[in-house]
Amino acid sequence: MKKRIPIVLVATAVYLQLTAQPAAMVVNVNEVKASVQPTMWGVFFEDINFGADGGLYAELVKNRSFEFFKPTMGWTITRQAEGDVLVLNRKEVNSTNPRFLRVAARHPQKGDVSLLNEGFRGMGFKKDLRYDFSVLYRQQKPGLKLHIELLDAAGGVIGETVLTPEKSDTNWNRQAVSLQATATEPKGRLNLWFEGEGIIDLDMISLFPSDTWKGRPGGLRADMVQMLADMKPGFVRFPGGCIVEGYDLSQRYEWKKTIGPVENRQMKINRWNFEFAHRPAPDYFQSFGLGFLEYFQLCEDIGAEPLPILNCGMACQFNSAEVVPLDELGPYVQDALDLVEFANGDATTKWGKVRADLGHPAPFHLKMMGIGNENWGPQYLERLAIFTKALKAKYPGIQLVNSSGTDPNGERFDQLNTALRSNNADIIDEHYYRRPEWFLQNAGRYDNYPRNGSKVFAGEYAAQSDRTVSVSNRNNLTTALSEAAFMTGLERNADVVTMASYAPLFAHADGWQWTPDLIWVDNLHIIGTPDYYVQKLFSLNKGTKVVSLTANGKTIAGQDSLYASAVVDEKSNDLIIKLVNVSGKRKSSNLSLEGVQSLRGEGTLTVLQGNEPDAVNTFGQPAQVAPKESTVSIKSNKLALSAPAYSLSVVRIRMAGGKPSLKKNSTKQ
Ligand code: AHR
Repeated sequence: MKKRIPIVLVATAVYLQLTAQPAAMVVNVNEVKASVQPTMWGVFFEDINFGADGGLYAELVKNRSFEFFKPTMGWTITRQAEGDVLVLNRKEVNSTNPRFLRVAARHPQKGDVSLLNEGFRGMGFKKDLRYDFSVLYRQQKPGLKLHIELLDAAGGVIGETVLTPEKSDTNWNRQAVSLQATATEPKGRLNLWFEGEGIIDLDMISLFPSDTWKGRPGGLRADMVQMLADMKPGFVRFPGGCIVEGYDLSQRYEWKKTIGPVENRQMKINRWNFEFAHRPAPDYFQSFGLGFLEYFQLCEDIGAEPLPILNCGMACQFNSAEVVPLDELGPYVQDALDLVEFANGDATTKWGKVRADLGHPAPFHLKMMGIGNENWGPQYLERLAIFTKALKAKYPGIQLVNSSGTDPNGERFDQLNTALRSNNADIIDEHYYRRPEWFLQNAGRYDNYPRNGSKVFAGEYAAQSDRTVSVSNRNNLTTALSEAAFMTGLERNADVVTMASYAPLFAHADGWQWTPDLIWVDNLHIIGTPDYYVQKLFSLNKGTKVVSLTANGKTIAGQDSLYASAVVDEKSNDLIIKLVNVSGKRKSSNLSLEGVQSLRGEGTLTVLQGNEPDAVNTFGQPAQVAPKESTVSIKSNKLALSAPAYSLSVVRIRMAGGKPSLKKNSTKQ
């Protein structure tokens, strides 16, 4: 007798067979869904995690001007007798940089009178590289020579020179000298020891590597800028972040105090110094060596639009929540107006002249500005209205980014979002620090957003492998792919979301407060996280027009663990398909490429994958999760794509230049 097979098993077998079939996907380049703005994928920069001081700003000396709360923090001082090294204060003469050191010595033996600086968690020295030392000095009693030494971690000398002060007048003089490192050292220090007899005042004791970005003296760490340049970001948002708001208003970011000679840029405590009791950084201050001119210059260098964010008259609402009374908001608004003039005005304008005098006569073409960071409530709306009125009256072309608070949903968000949309805000800044599942579930967040009116700036986002601000958060393949899946949704809705940036950007391995972060550095090395490679792949493949990509007539946003989007790059005439597989199984798909004539030949396939969902990049193994390129073949407008488990695949297919080209009407909108 034949065995009867239960219907349910038959159904399951049929289902499994069907689901094992390659997914049938259709790309139609004639169905243009949206234009992709050149700004689409950008970066968010904040001085958090030693991102600027101790990071991007290449100064190696910590507390070079003795302006930390503890004036000699970071320095080990050796003297012959009590009172030979004094901290003095000239505040009535120089209120922005009041403190300096007075050193007296009487023919000491080597090492008897010395100043040793520990750097930012050490100093990275590279063998054979030139290091540029400089100091402001004033000789009270001429006769001292400064011996300058680079030390390795054990105290061995790996570079030395001597500086003999040339000027003996009573003014502050700057003198520089260079020396070469004879060895590579990740945890070096700078030692100054004194020879002779005399008394000398010292300030702005500085040491820079000569291999800064574009070789600029006093410039930026080249490897860090290069990682950004490699992404070709559409914009740079700066200087934050909560740092814009400050713990209280006295600590807010004030751009006018960050330009001009570095010795006149008044140091401030960094709000991340004390924000997290579990990650204290008592030596974290802002020197503003990376100030607004440098930020604009950075944007220009890497071809990104500048997006400065300004304080709106409110301190961080998680901290003091201080607000400026409305009738005292004038100077804050004036700062915003003056910033536009500083960036764009010609030398006949007050602030345009300031920029020209600082060595940049050409304008920076500022097009947008953020008012407030994560501010909320009626107090924010009241202040925003005053800024908006003044800015739009004088500069109607400047697009204003408005805050929607700290979270992408909830009462606070809903109230702000409704109010901002009814005010016809140019751009609304949404932030999401959420678990990877949230990013997957929200890949369709913008599919049903209003198509007209305010645009969205996904201004800060990062998938949290644990929970927001947990020290256990990791940048692993799972977080990266969940962001990639979400980003296919942003791309598909590029008519709504015109800009997006991961946050935070940088972290120092020995000096971080917040994790996860896109790029990690130590004193000598830099690594991109899996999330970095996702950002880079999207940015380098952003295209100009979003085109239709469907399976069974539906957008691909989670069916069978797949997420996908497609764009055409009209400049190169490339069709670009992004496919994310968040499952542990390889997924096959057959793509029909419609709207192009007889497409065949080869395309480029770039795949980001790892051995396991928890895979991370480390300083020892920086490329465990890194993109790999190969080719795919296209036959009769068909592409068979096999997406490995836990992967992002990006396919680029040239549609012209001896190869098939777009149909004439293919880019109509
Ligand atoms: O990116 C870190 C912080 O997260 C930013 O400073 C702030 O805007 C957000 O809360």
